[in-house]
Amino acid sequence: MTKVQKIKGFADLFPDEAAKYTFMESCAREVFSRYGFGELRTPILEKTELFQKSIGEDTDVVGKEMFTFPDRKNRSLTMRPEATAGVVRAFIDSKIHQPGNISKFFTFGPMFRYERPQKGRQRQFHQIDAEIFGADEPQADAELILMLKAFLNAIGLTKLTIEINSLGCHDCRPAYKQALVDYYESKDKANFCEDCRRRMETNPLRVLDCKVPTCKALVEDAPVITDHLCGECETHFADVRAILDGAGVDYVLNPRMVRGLDYYVRTCFEVTSFDIGSQTAVAGGGRYDGLVRNLGGPDCPGTGFACGMERLALLLDDMALEAPDFYLAVVDKEAANEAMLFAQALRDKGLTGEVSFSGGSMKSRMRAANKSGAKTCLIMGGSELADQTVTVKDMAGNQDQETLDRKLYLASL
Ligand code: HAM
Repeated sequence: MTKVQKIKGFADLFPDEAAKYTFMESCAREVFSRYGFGELRTPILEKTELFQKSIGEDTDVVGKEMFTFPDRKNRSLTMRPEATAGVVRAFIDSKIHQPGNISKFFTFGPMFRYERPQKGRQRQFHQIDAEIFGADEPQADAELILMLKAFLNAIGLTKLTIEINSLGCHDCRPAYKQALVDYYESKDKANFCEDCRRRMETNPLRVLDCKVPTCKALVEDAPVITDHLCGECETHFADVRAILDGAGVDYVLNPRMVRGLDYYVRTCFEVTSFDIGSQTAVAGGGRYDGLVRNLGGPDCPGTGFACGMERLALLLDDMALEAPDFYLAVVDKEAANEAMLFAQALRDKGLTGEVSFSGGSMKSRMRAANKSGAKTCLIMGGSELADQTVTVKDMAGNQDQETLDRKLYLASL
């Protein structure tokens, strides 16, 4: 029979690797709850238009990377490429927003982007995402960066670079876009890739995010947004930086950062690591005032971030899995059923461990007990079955073993 292959760019996470994800999720829960965030779980499938309207048609994500297909009634659906759009849709649907109220959510889960798989880049990957609705203040952006840093520190990562920028607002960005267009026009357009020639008309900022080396080189001297911010955006950005400075957060100003999604205004940020190969961004985020309204909701500002769990996992040391309390070795077939009941009684007492389902040689059972890492090996064969006993072998210390009455042993736990 031919084997069914796994889909390219999709990974299986076995216990050693999955433990890192569980660890990251529990640290995020613990840290985020200190900042007043609550968990939200949204669907993996959404209508395609949700992502077209939010992330933007000119982005690589929407233009080239979405898993999009028609459902049985020919409606276009998309496997979410990121969490923000779905969280915003859910927030609007819930109608929980009241003017003046602030809502904070976090969510974890798989995202899907049809990218070329490589180290730290999967077609199914996982994000830890956090969003704040209802706050247009720079304090909310700063809080997110502080919370992201606290989370990264909690999982043991301290050698990371935080880059920040301001992308201006709907008032000051048009003049910047014009400055960009003027700059592109001063160059030979034929040297830009086809996508960028189109983007110059539709979305000049996107050209700055192009991955094609010739385009990258051509935009090196392009004007920077921070020279075109309006007074309000400048003050907003200065406040974000002042809070980070006050909190002693090291960061780098990167006026060239535009992020890969179209919904951002004002503050944006990325966290990078140079220890994981070419895919250096482990987290990214920013402010998206206007998105809630564009998706049919109230006039409500928003800001957030997402971490890439695959990339963070590359930076984490292997997790020591908790050693089980016992391994129950059945060495005579006749004792198998009784052993199952005894293992059940041990688990009812809160102990962790496995039982071998059938009888086997003492040697093979001892090998399995060692492999499981159990602190105690419990042995049950014909004589233990007859005498209502169990042989208890200490695996951690001096390897002593003694045969004890099963009921008394249970009572002693
Ligand atoms: P993003 O920068 O597109 O932002 O993705 C956030 C993080 O997801 C990246 O920094 C990276 O670590 C991880 N990531 C992205 N694509 C892949 C991939 N193919 N394989 C592995 N990891 C990947 C967003 O998604 C925004 N929604 C963040 C946000 C939330 N902005 C505001 N709120």
